[in-house]
Amino acid sequence: MPGFVQITDTHIVAPGALAYGRSDTAEALRRAVETINAKLPLWEGIACAIVTGDLTDHGTPEEYAHFLSIMDDLALPWCAVPGNHDQRAPMRKAFADAPWMPGEGPVNWVRNFGPFSVIGLDTLLEGAHHGVLCDEGMGFLDSTLSALGDQPAIVATHHPFMHAGIPAMDADNLRNGAAVIARLEAHPGSVRMMSGHVHRAVTGQIGRVTCQISPATCHAVLTDHRARRDPHLVLEPGAVTVHHWLELPRAGLVSDIIPTGLFPGPWPFQD
Ligand SMILES: [Fe+2]
Ligand SMILES: [Fe+2]
Repeated sequence: MPGFVQITDTHIVAPGALAYGRSDTAEALRRAVETINAKLPLWEGIACAIVTGDLTDHGTPEEYAHFLSIMDDLALPWCAVPGNHDQRAPMRKAFADAPWMPGEGPVNWVRNFGPFSVIGLDTLLEGAHHGVLCDEGMGFLDSTLSALGDQPAIVATHHPFMHAGIPAMDADNLRNGAAVIARLEAHPGSVRMMSGHVHRAVTGQIGRVTCQISPATCHAVLTDHRARRDPHLVLEPGAVTVHHWLELPRAGLVSDIIPTGLFPGPWPFQD
């Protein structure tokens, strides 16, 4: 069954540096790439990886080159949308040869997987941590949804609209996400919104729209439900998310969070 792997919030910094002085994000991405490559023979129909933003920590050409040098080893094609830690011009220049990268404007794209399509939307507002889908992006979403007819649609963004219950992160969500949700609710096929940014595995529902945030390959954000607290990073295990389409018991997208790294096993349950 068709599907893809979601990689998010890789936060690559310059070679040899640690993000925030603590997080070896390059090693975390290498571990994610090795994990995906090792498990791909067990997964059926996985066509590509989708990177949902914060590819780099500062958006410099050096960081994008470092990101590419690690992703070169991934045994899948990949596409990406930017996050608040990215910079559109250096990102476009670094990935100018990629078929999904538009020559100008926001980084929006659509990919048809057969039973469903993924619409990548650029929610980066440069200079801000929160996200906004610009007028051009909203127009792209409208025209793409209309062209899909009743095919199920998954919108991929860096910024979630759904709150995670972490006030320090929720303040920087997709500020005009209600308009995205309204459009998805009006779509005749099943709908989902998949995002990153919160560095945690969080799932919820807004109306007809399943909303899902995937964990980062590197550090996590501390789950802290208290108001007026600064966000804190914690070095929890990284993960990627495998999304694949299943026909039973009803057709739909199923998502499996895969911790990155090597673990004991697998062993048969019976000797
Ligand atoms: Fe991030
Ligand atoms: Fe982010």
